[in-house]
Amino acid sequence: MNLVDVKKVVLTGDRPTGPLHLGHYVGSLKNRLELQESCLQYIMIADSQALTDHADDPQKIKEHVFEVLLDYLAIGIDPCKSIIFVQSLVKALPELTLYYLNLVTWNRLKHNPTVKQEILQKGFGESIPAGFMVYPISQAADITAFKAHLVPVGADQLPMIEQTNEIVRRFNALYRAPILIEVEAVVPKQGGRLPGLDGKNKMSKSLNNAIYFSDCPEVITHKVMSMYTDPQHLRVEDPGKVKGNPVFYYLDCFDPDKEKVASMKEHYSKGGLGDFQVKKHLNEILIEFLRPIYEKRLFLSKNREALVDILKQGTLQANIKAQQTLKEVRTAMGFNYW
Ligand code: TRP
Repeated sequence: MNLVDVKKVVLTGDRPTGPLHLGHYVGSLKNRLELQESCLQYIMIADSQALTDHADDPQKIKEHVFEVLLDYLAIGIDPCKSIIFVQSLVKALPELTLYYLNLVTWNRLKHNPTVKQEILQKGFGESIPAGFMVYPISQAADITAFKAHLVPVGADQLPMIEQTNEIVRRFNALYRAPILIEVEAVVPKQGGRLPGLDGKNKMSKSLNNAIYFSDCPEVITHKVMSMYTDPQHLRVEDPGKVKGNPVFYYLDCFDPDKEKVASMKEHYSKGGLGDFQVKKHLNEILIEFLRPIYEKRLFLSKNREALVDILKQGTLQANIKAQQTLKEVRTAMGFNYW
């Protein structure tokens, strides 16, 4: 048996609407680095999906395809181990989406909790793009086209996985062909939701509270030093709150010295440890982690041709797999005319 056949398949992706940040790292990128060692991993840059809420700016999406690719490569996604590709160049995906659209009710789509929350966040009001409403179905096409077993995502994407599995079951039952497989989410142990620099519950570009892989060390220091902490902790000798304090959350995620973090937390809670000291330490930890990423990113950004080549190769491989699945799907439906 071919080695590729025994490996689990992973599919995941990002909308290229902005550069990636530490929240993406904790939520999914870290898991992808592990998974690429043992699985056949497809990583999709979801430019078509980005259009569902950025139809007015395809040029920005195109530029960010390369920014996101640089982020992947700089953090250690290896194009020899993971297949990185561009969603809009895999034509089997919209065709699968078209077939799956008939397997989901409008009512079911309206009640998808992630979509509901995003509609509010994005302030669509009554003007929700139809493409946005059905993006969970196109996401099911992305996942099933590669017969993925695993999808590394943040917990907020769990309803998408559920929707995918409903489509898989419905397709297999309706066409009496067990060709699509159910998928499992790989969610980070701590839930994977990194709070923002401002202490808000999520790091995100739209909240302007993120540290990016493309930030230079000076910018990172500035951001860390102006982070939200415990607003009641006014004097160094005051006892401070660790819970809900993003500075400690970040240390939990990024400082490998767990004992040191535990003792800092204790000291802070008792009083006598100033915010400045904690931030200074966090800054050192983050710079140590992010500086090589920043430098690698800068270096790779100078060779656009090499970047294009990586995407071309990945997209070629992705097309082979997705076309194969599409053929099976059409055959299961009896649409193999001659
Ligand atoms: N929804 C993801 C994001 O917002 C991108 C995405 C598209 C995706 N298709 C997917 C993620 C399939 C996992 C699986 O970034």
